[in-house]
Amino acid sequence: MTSTTIDSPRTPAGSAKRRGVNWEKWGWIYMRVSGVVLLVLIFGHLFVNLMVGEGVKAIDFAFVGGKWSDPFWKVWDTLMLWLAMIHGGNGMRTIVNDYARSPRLRKVLVGAIAASVVVLILLGTLVVFTFDPCPVVPADQAHLLPSFCPAP
Ligand code: HEM
Repeated sequence: MTSTTIDSPRTPAGSAKRRGVNWEKWGWIYMRVSGVVLLVLIFGHLFVNLMVGEGVKAIDFAFVGGKWSDPFWKVWDTLMLWLAMIHGGNGMRTIVNDYARSPRLRKVLVGAIAASVVVLILLGTLVVFTFDPCPVVPADQAHLLPSFCPAP
């Protein structure tokens, strides 16, 4: 009969010291730190959009245009986008690591998560910094512009 010895919970993973950056540890710390910052960003975002002034009734194209004309909200929204996407992506990676049974499936799923995080961060950042509520358009399309834009 064989017996198994189980190390005490706080025993280091290997007897030999591992080299290089411990990415899992930094990922773990990132989830906690970004979670705290996201609490402020997300609840600040919800409070300003849904409760201040006229509240939810005020949300329309002009409301978004107005917010994104202010560098403060551009930085706020970009930070929220980056932190939440990386937090959500890393959290999904953890779930895939826990449940995917084959290494190949794990690679495919983690690759798909990483790709969608990168694409959404790039697209979102592009929108926040290039958004122009009154773009220059040909005269026959001027009727498509919001009413607050100066006449072309
Ligand atoms: C309101 C602010 C938030 C806080 C305080 C927060 C906090 C946390 C913490 C501490 C963990 C690690 C849990 C663990 O390791 O057991 C976690 C995991 C996770 N978070 Fe968040 N989070 C927040 C917002 C978000 C958002 C906006 C998303 C989506 C974009 C998200 C998606 C996830 C996912 C998918 C996991 C992995 C769940 C798991 O391991 O079972 N979280 N969160």
